[in-house]
Amino acid sequence: MTGPSTSTLSLRGRQLIDQPAIAEYIRAHFQNAAEAWDAKARPDGYIALCIAENRGMWEVLRPQLANYRDIPARVLGYDAMTGALEFRTKLAAFMSERVLGRRVEAEQLAALAGAGAVLEVLFYALADPGDGVLVPTPSYAGFWTDLETRDGLEIVTVPCASEDDFRLTPARLDAAMAEATVPIKALLFTTPDNPMGRVYTRAQLLEVLAWAEGAGVHVVFDEVYALSVFGERPFVSAASLRERLGPWAHVIWAFSKDFGASGLRCGVLVSENPEVLAAVDALSYWSACSGDTQYLLGELVADADFIDGYIETMRARLGQAYAEVHAALAGIGVHHLPADGGFFVLCDLRPFLDEPSFAAEHRLWRRLLDEARVNLTPGAACRVAEPGFFRLCYASEPVEALREAVARVGRVLAG
Ligand SMILES: Cc1ncc(COP(=O)(O)O)c(C=O)c1O
Repeated sequence: MTGPSTSTLSLRGRQLIDQPAIAEYIRAHFQNAAEAWDAKARPDGYIALCIAENRGMWEVLRPQLANYRDIPARVLGYDAMTGALEFRTKLAAFMSERVLGRRVEAEQLAALAGAGAVLEVLFYALADPGDGVLVPTPSYAGFWTDLETRDGLEIVTVPCASEDDFRLTPARLDAAMAEATVPIKALLFTTPDNPMGRVYTRAQLLEVLAWAEGAGVHVVFDEVYALSVFGERPFVSAASLRERLGPWAHVIWAFSKDFGASGLRCGVLVSENPEVLAAVDALSYWSACSGDTQYLLGELVADADFIDGYIETMRARLGQAYAEVHAALAGIGVHHLPADGGFFVLCDLRPFLDEPSFAAEHRLWRRLLDEARVNLTPGAACRVAEPGFFRLCYASEPVEALREAVARVGRVLAG
C-alpha cells in the first residue's frame, strides 16, 4: 500500500496494514508452523515456545466437550450479547467458587469473544482516545494491540527493573503517573503474571488497589491465568480482597488459558459498576461469544467432578513442565525468575548478547530461530526495559520437545 491513489482503503484501513498489529515473532511462528517438531517425523523441526497455549490439556478437554454437542435449539437464536443469562448463571457459580474467592452475581458478568475483546470493549468505556493507561513492565505484549489499535489509547509503561526482580512499587507507579504526558485513566495489572509467571500476594494486590484508589483511576486486574498455578504461592483474586470491589476496580478472566481453549474465544468481565456494565453491553453485539460456545462452556463449568479432575491434572502437568524447563535451563547456564503460575519463565540471556542493546537482542532472537529453530518471545515485545530477556512458554509443547528446544538453545548460546 503506497498511498491514497493506489489503495481501496480508508486512511485508518491503510494504517492497519502499514503498522500490522501482529508482532514479528508471531508472524515468524505462522511462517514456520508447517515445519513443526515431531519426535519421529521431524525431530529437527521448528519448536514454538512463544505461543501462550496449554495444548497439553487438549486431549483431556476434547472428549469431555464432545459430550455436550447435542445443542438445544435455543442457542441458535439471538440472546443477550454479553452472554445468555443461563450461561452467566453457571459462570457466576463456577467463577465464585474457583476463581474469585467470593460470591458474584450473573448480572455482574459480561462474557465476550475472548479476554482481548473484553479488554478492548472495557477500555473503550473507561477512557477516551488519547488517554493513558498504566501497564507495569515486563508485560503481556498483546495489551498494546488491545488498547491502542481501535480504542486509540496510549499505554504508559511503569518500568520495573531486574535489579530488584522487577518489583512493582507504589514509587514506580507514582513516577510513571508524574511523568506521563497524557491523562492517566486506569492501571492494568496482571496476576498471575505474564511473562514472569509470578503470582501476587494479597498484600501486594491491596497495595495496587490502594494506589489506584489514591490516584483516582480505574484498576483492571487481568486474571486469565488464575487457575494455572502450581507453586507455593496460592492464587489470590482481587475480587476476594474485600466484600465489594467498588466502582473503580474490575476483573477479567477467560477460558483461553486455564482451559487451553483460546480458539473458542470466551472472556469474562467482572464488574460491580452498573454504568460500566451498561456501556460494555452497548458494544457487545460486535464482540459476542457464539451461543454454541456459551452452551458448551456452560455445561463444562457446571460439571464439578470433571472440573476438579481437570484442574488437578492441569496443575500437576504445568508444575512438571516448569520443573523440567527449570532444570534444563540450569543445565545450559540460563537463569530465570522463579515462577509459581502462568505458562512462562522470563529467561535472562543478557550474558549472551554481543552488546547490551535491543538490536543485539533481536539478533539473538533471529539466531535462535534460524539456527536452533526455536521461537522465544523477545523481551522487547514484553516491553522489558533492559535488553536480553526472553520469555519461554513451557505449556504449549510436550516435555520431550521442551528438553530438545533448551538443548538446541544451549548449543547456539555456547557457539
Ligand atoms: C495476560 C493476558 N491477557 C489477555 C490475553 C488474551 O486472551 P484471549 O485469547 O482470551 O483474548 C492473554 C493471551 O495471551 C494474556 O496472556
